[in-house]
Amino acid sequence: MKILLENCSGYHPAARANAPAALRSVSLQVASGEQVAVIGPSGAGKTTLLHLLACALKPAQGSLQLDGRDPWALSRGDLQRLRGELFLAPQVPPLPPRQRVVTTVLAGRLPHESLWTSVRSLFYPTGIALADQALARFDVGDKLFERVDRLSGGERQRVGLARALATQARLFLVDEPLSALDPTRAQQAIESLTGAAHERGATLVATLHHVEMALRHFPRIIGLRDGELAFDLPAALVTPPLLHQLYEQHLDELNGAPPAALPDAPEAPAPAAMHCR
Ligand SMILES: Nc1ncnc2c1ncn2[C@@H]1O[C@H](COP(=O)(O)OP(=O)(O)OP(=O)(O)O)[C@@H](O)[C@H]1O
Ligand SMILES: [Mg+2]
Repeated sequence: MKILLENCSGYHPAARANAPAALRSVSLQVASGEQVAVIGPSGAGKTTLLHLLACALKPAQGSLQLDGRDPWALSRGDLQRLRGELFLAPQVPPLPPRQRVVTTVLAGRLPHESLWTSVRSLFYPTGIALADQALARFDVGDKLFERVDRLSGGERQRVGLARALATQARLFLVDEPLSALDPTRAQQAIESLTGAAHERGATLVATLHHVEMALRHFPRIIGLRDGELAFDLPAALVTPPLLHQLYEQHLDELNGAPPAALPDAPEAPAPAAMHCR
């Protein structure tokens, strides 16, 4: 899926009336099948950008086009169908605690299925092989029939990523997919994610705190700072001085602060954006 964002500004839904925009006048184009990492210090607007692209947040100014269509000019039904073609994986996947992993993974397919198939699959999951394959790519194949609330934070994060692969999405929007993973798992997860997106020709936009990982696995890097585009460059041109400028006053984040742990409570509030799935 092709993305065109022109002069877009956006506010966090919970922002106070006089709060500055979380994203200001951001313009970018992403070609179909491209893979882009978004980096920048905490509060830079990375998640807000993903929510805009996921059509979960309406731009306050500017315009968004996905495959040449303005989502906000579509009818309700067409917008719903468009949302079915993209997948937003939030940093803390809002997985129902008592559900089996298999059901949770296959729930990602709901927008593509008939109502009858969807309801039936809640009780008798179909497509188990598909869920199994997706989980295996993130090395959690053995958790197929486990309950979600019996998974560790890192396992839950990998199940959230497997859920993306079980969909037929043409645009993956992935928010901090590695935050609960150790370096080896993080490396495996990012390889699986970029590999799967490449195989199906899907566009991938991922926010990453691991700058080194972003540079190693993504051909294009977008630097965000204070809600604005600081740079948009091929990874090979992102130099240490540029990174220092981007993370100025937040150099601890650049130098690899310990990964933020996922909350153990599965009831953690879901980001508003997940309501689109
Ligand atoms: N829960 C909230 N309530 C009000 N405003 C918020 C909230 N979350 C974010 N914002 C505003 O939106 C801005 C951008 O936040 P966003 O979550 O997009 O940043 P981020 O780059 O994803 O940060 P992080 O790396 O910490 O996830 C923040 O600086 C803040 O002003
Ligand atoms: Mg964020």
